[in-house]
Amino acid sequence: MPLDIVIGAQWGDEGKGRFVDLLAANADYVARFNGGDNAGHTVTVGKQTFKLHLVPSGVVHPHAVSMIGNGVVVNPATLLSELDFLRSMGISVTPERLCISYAAHLITPGHLALDKAQEEQRGKTKLGTTLRGIGPAYTDKVTRSGLRLGQMLDQEAFADAVEEHIEVVNKQLTGIYGAEPLDSHKAAGEMAEYARKLAPYIADVSTILHHALKDGRRVLAEGAQGTLLDLDHGTYPYVTSSNPTAPGALVGLGLGVGCVERVIAVTKAFQTRVGEGSFPTEVSGKAAIRLRGTGENPWDEFGTTTGRPRRVGWLDMVLLRYSTRINDATEIALTKLDVLSGLNMIKICVGYHDQSVTSRKTGILSELPLGPGSLDTYEPVFEEMPGWDADLQSVRRWEDLPEEARNYILRIEELSETPVRMVSVGPERGQLVEIT
Ligand code: GDP
Ligand code: IMO
Ligand code: MG
Repeated sequence: MPLDIVIGAQWGDEGKGRFVDLLAANADYVARFNGGDNAGHTVTVGKQTFKLHLVPSGVVHPHAVSMIGNGVVVNPATLLSELDFLRSMGISVTPERLCISYAAHLITPGHLALDKAQEEQRGKTKLGTTLRGIGPAYTDKVTRSGLRLGQMLDQEAFADAVEEHIEVVNKQLTGIYGAEPLDSHKAAGEMAEYARKLAPYIADVSTILHHALKDGRRVLAEGAQGTLLDLDHGTYPYVTSSNPTAPGALVGLGLGVGCVERVIAVTKAFQTRVGEGSFPTEVSGKAAIRLRGTGENPWDEFGTTTGRPRRVGWLDMVLLRYSTRINDATEIALTKLDVLSGLNMIKICVGYHDQSVTSRKTGILSELPLGPGSLDTYEPVFEEMPGWDADLQSVRRWEDLPEEARNYILRIEELSETPVRMVSVGPERGQLVEIT
């Protein structure tokens, strides 16, 4: 039963979209299992660039059927404009090519307003969310007061449920946050219109995928965000509200254990983060500009969804080892190796010194004693490796990579105890070195 799972091994934006696009060439179904339109996945095919937020990155392939699983939270307005965008790019998206789980939860204008109000109230301790209503939508799911896609099939009852939901949200907005209330009647009307448009796409994704796997069809699960943003296993509370890790694919698609073949952990050749939270290997000043870029290349480190400059730093192998363990990764897909060309020296974090007064361990830590919750007291221990000058963007074979680049990859394999099977050297589909 061949299910392959692509997950982010860092704080998101690792380049999952480009690898899903690549692997979708051999998949019958491509399925998103977590998060919502907080995700921004970039796929570059020739001169065309697709920035996808909710629709799986496999949609670019005409043969692959796209699925949105029960673990996803769906903003119907964003989804419909994404479908329009895809059609404008010449991609057919019909109910035969896209199915959305009846059990996926909806993001409403109420959730968007709550996300904003909560971030404002947090003030200095804000999380730096994408303001897409993600946290409030998952909160309603967990407190069993959420709205699910399946409810859209009875439009009248759905409109009533939306109106009731917005009235509850209004009590929170005005009573707790001192924010303006929303027009519940107007919101219900808008959501009912979205329901009319989305109804043909609503299906039982779990059952479809179960039968597909039983028949030997290939399913590719596409994670959003990354392991360090996982609600349970990430840098809590500076995380998202879903489980972007590999087991999240099973829960978020309604599949049992035992069907998984490959778990592909995508990681950049350095480290980035958008939003707040600790980041031990972060660099600033000129070094940061060098890794981030200034925005002149399409791949420079500015958020796909929010446009915010990403924080940047050196590759953190303590965290990558943790990620490959949490996901039981069968392999690593390394992205953006080309960005490191031209550096005399590359730093790689191989351990931490614990600077806290309550430290339980001395010496260099290569594992996290209490997970990645609080990394603030850790001082990274770096190893320095020689860099290379050559532009890598046209390299396609392992033996054509500079020796220094090969040594960097081998050191990543050694420290993570996981094979690096694919290395990308540019954003385009074919800019890839496969390691056999
Ligand atoms: P995702 O959220 O994990 O899918 O990643 P994003 O799409 O948000 O960010 C990755 C960015 O890096 C996008 O602009 C990609 O086009 C770009 N990218 C991916 N792989 C490579 C690569 O190997 N080299 C370069 N230069 N850019 C890449
Ligand atoms: P992709 O799929 C990078 C971050 C936000 C914030 C935290 C919580 O493109 O890798 P949320 O809006 O989810 O409540 O914000 O998570 N975040 C991401 N960072 N890539 C993403 O998605 C992200 N989705 C959320 O910046 O720090
Ligand atoms: Mg992204």
